[in-house]
Amino acid sequence: MSKRVAIIGTGYVGSVTAACFASLGNSVVCVDSDAKKVEQWNSGSLPISEPGLAELVFAHRNKNLFFTTDFAFAVKNSDIVFVCVNTPLKTSGLSQGSFELKYVEGVARQIARAADHEIIVVEKSTVPLGNASRIREILFYNLNHGVKAHIVSNPEFLAEGTAVTDFLHPSRVLVGVEDGDDFAKKVMSELYSFAPNEKVIFTNIWSGELSKLASNAFLASRISMINAFAGLCEQTGADILEVSKVVGMDERIGSKFLNAGIGFGGSCFHKDLSALVYLLRQRHLEEEAQLFEAVLQINKKLRKKFVQKIFEHSGSPADKTICVLGFAFKPNTDDIRDAPAVSICELLLEEGARLQVYDSLAGSKALSVLNGSVKVCSSPYEAVEGADVLALLTEWDEFKSLDFDRVFSLMRKPAWVFDGRNALDHSLLAKKGFNVVPVGRVAFSLAENTISRRID
Ligand code: UGA
Repeated sequence: MSKRVAIIGTGYVGSVTAACFASLGNSVVCVDSDAKKVEQWNSGSLPISEPGLAELVFAHRNKNLFFTTDFAFAVKNSDIVFVCVNTPLKTSGLSQGSFELKYVEGVARQIARAADHEIIVVEKSTVPLGNASRIREILFYNLNHGVKAHIVSNPEFLAEGTAVTDFLHPSRVLVGVEDGDDFAKKVMSELYSFAPNEKVIFTNIWSGELSKLASNAFLASRISMINAFAGLCEQTGADILEVSKVVGMDERIGSKFLNAGIGFGGSCFHKDLSALVYLLRQRHLEEEAQLFEAVLQINKKLRKKFVQKIFEHSGSPADKTICVLGFAFKPNTDDIRDAPAVSICELLLEEGARLQVYDSLAGSKALSVLNGSVKVCSSPYEAVEGADVLALLTEWDEFKSLDFDRVFSLMRKPAWVFDGRNALDHSLLAKKGFNVVPVGRVAFSLAENTISRRID
């Protein structure tokens, strides 16, 4: 049964949610306070690049998918209102490290003013545990007389690069409802009737809010754990690819999210873990807070360590040309929020390196965020030309199938490859004459006559 849906906030989460609900036959109005962004959503060049998103937007726009700045119009013409505004991390003040909730609260007030019929307000943005009671209170005091609102927690589990597929074929749909709210439960199960029954999980509202933080904390912890072992491998001669393969074969552990490298980035993991640490401290769970703080610290350390490795193996980066392959925080996206590549490039520029950056989607962003000698290239081969060092920072598929004979001939010698994502065939590169420094594996160097194997 099709529904009338309003989406507040047209970032990654809001836009994907909107386009997917529209593609399922619902009537969707998206609202954003940023008029320029709305203009872009209504134009031929959309503000966000996500596989499959543009196709859905172009197919449904101005039919059953609308973009507007008119908040009241969106709320008055919908029965379910998704709050998808950002909840950035607070970087100063007493509550430093917690989520900034002023946008969410502001939206709740606007909804209360505009609503003229019974509505369901859905928390889609990642929020701290207990946020629903704040929303409930704002609505309670500000709704027009006789208007009823229900509150639901429905966090998203979309990963960038696969968000549209993740939405349409979800691993699970989590709906947290308030005790006894059968109306909200019924409407939400109709809205998500496209997902297999067993994947739609109804929980109480607090479990809904916490499960999202818990899921991201588990994923991020796995990455820091495998990177901790990678550090140990580098000191001892063990090989992280072998270790993670063996560990991942245990069905209880599983093989995903065990890739060692330069660590996690993106808009979610760092933010959600910081907020979790804040939440735990607030509840006097100090050791638990330290657990997730360590996950963050290990991750942060990896960026500096990568640059130190360039120093250690190939000498000072000053006056050297470094080819940077990949700038986005992961492949198949143009998103550079908290991307390891940004911090690594900043450190390299501070050391006096010249950078030649290539990333098919995110490359142009390097010029706007980096200060120094940065050339943005239009092909990987242009980026390696005359370079002393090739630093692979995002594992785009196209880098795995490069013509490495051509790359070798274009680079200065000795030609160094620092594979920050363990994406390349290291022994093959060594055979072609490169000096190769992977993560958590021994370095391959021709001059040192094959492999520098470390023993305890
Ligand atoms: C993440 C979660 O995977 C989603 O489930 C969640 O909905 C989303 O955050 C969110 O909270 O909105 P995303 O940030 O898009 O999604 O990216 P991931 O695919 O999880 O990758 C995060 C980072 O971890 C990337 O920088 C990636 O390169 C890194 N990573 C991932 C590793 O370093 N090693 C791995 O084995 C896997």
